[in-house]
Amino acid sequence: DTNNNRDNGTETSLDLSKEGAGRHGLGSNILYQYQGFWCSADEIQSVKDFQQNFKALDADLMLATLPKSGSIWLKALAFGIVNRINYPNSNNYHQHPLLTVSPHDLVPFIDFKHLHPDHSLLDFTKTSPTPHDHDSPCRLIATHVPYPSLAESIKNPAINCKIVYLCRNPQDTFISMWVFMNKVRPVMNNNNSSLSIDEAFEFFYEGVSQFGPFWDHVLGYWKESVENPHKVLFLKYEDLKKEPKIQIKKLAEFMGYSFSIEEERSGVIEDIISLCSFEHLKNLDVNKNGYWQNLIESKIYFRKGEVGDWKNYLTPLMVDRLDRLMEEKLHGSRLVF
Ligand code: A3P
Repeated sequence: DTNNNRDNGTETSLDLSKEGAGRHGLGSNILYQYQGFWCSADEIQSVKDFQQNFKALDADLMLATLPKSGSIWLKALAFGIVNRINYPNSNNYHQHPLLTVSPHDLVPFIDFKHLHPDHSLLDFTKTSPTPHDHDSPCRLIATHVPYPSLAESIKNPAINCKIVYLCRNPQDTFISMWVFMNKVRPVMNNNNSSLSIDEAFEFFYEGVSQFGPFWDHVLGYWKESVENPHKVLFLKYEDLKKEPKIQIKKLAEFMGYSFSIEEERSGVIEDIISLCSFEHLKNLDVNKNGYWQNLIESKIYFRKGEVGDWKNYLTPLMVDRLDRLMEEKLHGSRLVF
């Protein structure tokens, strides 16, 4: 029972015996269930710290995703939109931070505080809205934490902090995650054995994936976006691929950084789209040869960047089982993939 795992938010130390048995789920480390979702012991510690100490500010923008839903793309786009005033010359991007810094460093994940404790943004008690080295007009913060487990101040209606959620169809999310986990397992937990697609599929199907179950994660944010559309914007990776201009306009408007008619006319939206495109980011030196936290090669965050790659991997039986599962889990929500 996941509720048995809920703590009252007053503890700081981690007692894994309370979190139930760990499982070799679809993650790079052993996963534990915490407040109904699965993550590693280190991540639970970071999430507890976040829940207990993070103070949301009015201008904060939270970027929420499940791993492998295009988090890095959303980070780049949001950073590009919010900071365009600082880098206004569309044909002269040579000083743009996205050219030399990984989106993961410009917009760090709060969930991995244990991996980057020195990052100024991750000082949860700090209230200054100038969090990182670049002069961002607001704090951009990323998280994989499910909606119900976000720090309370983020959800507080009196605080005008906003949340953008990006989801991706379950099949592509699963394939992207399976390939990624097999690449990071040797680095993260010294485990050189790779997980077969069959084993990985069963874990995903059972919901035992990082920050999953998949359906609980998407439904948590979906429900909130329906009830509070001014607080939560729900985007889909597939829509961003299909109609980037429309989606990016929607994103900018929601975040409070709408494009002016003049900006639209002069091609600012197209510039941001190409600055953040898969091909462009993938081929930058920082993303080709850099490392995240001196640990993970940045290039593995840029694999194919396509919709429908799952067709190259999933058997008809897997497709059928996943379809049925999603139908059952998403029933009545009006969310479709
Ligand atoms: P694939 O493995 O299917 O290629 P995350 O950032 O949440 O880890 O998601 C990673 C996925 O997003 C990977 O998917 C990656 O290739 C894709 N991706 C990274 N940058 C992208 C971009 N600029 N545009 C579209 N997809 C991108």
